Amino acid sequence: MCGIVGYIGNKQAKDVVIKGLKRLEYRGYDSAGVAVINGALSVKKCKGKVSVLEKKLGTSENGNIGIGHTRWATHGEPNDINSHPHTSTTGKLAVVHNGIIENYGALKQKLQKEGYEFYSETDTEIVAKLIENMMDKNPGLDLEDAVRLSLVQINGTYGLAILHEDHPDKIIVARKGSPLLIGVGEGEMLVASDASAVAEYTDKVVYLDDGELAVITKDDYQVLNSHDIELTKEVHELAVSLEEIEKGGYPFFMLKEIFEQPKTVADCLRGRLNVEEGTINLGGLSKVTEELKNAKRIIIAACGTSWHSGLVGEYLFEWLAKIPVEVEYASEFRYKDPILGEGDVVFVISQSGETADTLAAMREAKEKGATTLGIVNVVGSTIARESDGGVYLHAGPEIGVASTKAFTGQVTVLILIALKMAQLRNTITEEKSKRLIKALSEIPEKIAETLKHSDEVKRIADLFTYAPNFLYLGRSYSFPVALEGALKLKEISYIHAEGYPAAEMKHGPIALIDDMMPVVVIAATNHTSDKMVSNIEEVRARKGRIIAVTSPENKEVKELAEFNCTIPETEDELTPLLSVIPLQLLSYYIAVNRGCNVDQPRNLAKSVTVE
Ligand code: M6R
Repeated sequence: MCGIVGYIGNKQAKDVVIKGLKRLEYRGYDSAGVAVINGALSVKKCKGKVSVLEKKLGTSENGNIGIGHTRWATHGEPNDINSHPHTSTTGKLAVVHNGIIENYGALKQKLQKEGYEFYSETDTEIVAKLIENMMDKNPGLDLEDAVRLSLVQINGTYGLAILHEDHPDKIIVARKGSPLLIGVGEGEMLVASDASAVAEYTDKVVYLDDGELAVITKDDYQVLNSHDIELTKEVHELAVSLEEIEKGGYPFFMLKEIFEQPKTVADCLRGRLNVEEGTINLGGLSKVTEELKNAKRIIIAACGTSWHSGLVGEYLFEWLAKIPVEVEYASEFRYKDPILGEGDVVFVISQSGETADTLAAMREAKEKGATTLGIVNVVGSTIARESDGGVYLHAGPEIGVASTKAFTGQVTVLILIALKMAQLRNTITEEKSKRLIKALSEIPEKIAETLKHSDEVKRIADLFTYAPNFLYLGRSYSFPVALEGALKLKEISYIHAEGYPAAEMKHGPIALIDDMMPVVVIAATNHTSDKMVSNIEEVRARKGRIIAVTSPENKEVKELAEFNCTIPETEDELTPLLSVIPLQLLSYYIAVNRGCNVDQPRNLAKSVTVE
């Protein structure tokens, strides 16, 4: 969602902050702003991209201490006034914020009664005025104390960075529900909502936890809990390289990330598979082996693409480990007052590890006593830190807003876990287990083979660039892939697309089919192949335009389809890892043809840290 960067040291703060904001731009990008102290506080902010802001900066924004923000609007439309930083009445204090202040209306009314005037429609402005009010009423109060005492009055979520002209040697940051970290340098310190903004300057980071506040000076940092007690925090080594957060010659991060998948899946499997022995080693689950062995039910909570991989997980766990599974939208989980009991294992899946709804679902499950396990990409993220155990994807930073390599990483991890559980629970034969493990080890190569057919997909994209609607159909493991294909297309090309279980088409969506309707059928060879053929015939009978994702061995489908996207054969359970690739490419090429900004689609943000 919104991105936050701050710097204090000997460099020009605005340069570091702007660079960091550009790296965070994928998180939220309708407006941007910076505040710098050089004698006086100077604020520049505007609607638009960070590059627009950069052009507006001049010598008045010189200085060695500064904070910046890139915004994804929640309260108030994206315009110059609503952009962050927000300031106090005196203009001496500046605040950048990620999150939502839920009781801002009541606080605003209270302050208005005391004579404070507000210039923006944002919830964030209240924070600046609240701290100012605290300082006005308590002359001589330290900035950090004024912040701490003000935050007590706030309900909601925040990652905050605060500067004050009269305290030009410190940045105050605070966290509740929105990610924040300190980049620890030599003679300089950074703060950011995402490690990619600090990776160029330091590989040492301190992650703040909820309820913590930090006072950051050029040479030191002090982290305090909500009772004002100083904490000793672990300094983590950053696992992000600069190369990983740059485009490396690709026009868009999304294309880079699609083509990285042979490597990211191989990285995900590295050290975890022993093909000869047919064993799986998942260190992050070693503490919960008994819980996995004796689990009576699995609940998976996630959002968006991660929810789709959760649906693949449902098929995997039920088929292989013979355990009932429920896949929940994380955003709804809490509101059902979920009934959790002994034997329930809750997996939360999240690329970022910071999605507010997923985090809330995990905390709810934890509170109700369930074992919570994270399937997460971002190392050190909140879900990774708060879960009882889990498995990292090791896919490297995913910067394109549309999730691609995270999906294949998540499915790979789910296959590993399902196999591990099947072995623990004796629900799989040794022969089948070894066959699947071997097939899994060959998947990176098969993804590379699939990517070689990208031209075939591009030609199809060129023909259907201006289709107003798309339908995606699949059965069994291919049904979640159909959902994922449809999501990819709508989020980056703005074409309306729906995914359905192929048989469900007859119960409504079939009414949409005519000779203008592209219907993408995911027809991997498996136990549903014959039934898929019947569904294809039904679409053909209504003159729908069939685009099949299938293997050359699946001759019947190949001949029935008007267009084919080729994938190699593999074991049924592993097909989502291949069939999703042409769908990622199809949406990418269509979006590029339509002139869309693939990496930063309108209205979307990479990490949704508000509920
Ligand atoms: O970081 P998470 O995996 O928790 O994010 C969940 C969704 O917000 C995310 O998958 C979203 O749907 C993507 N834009 C999909 O491409």
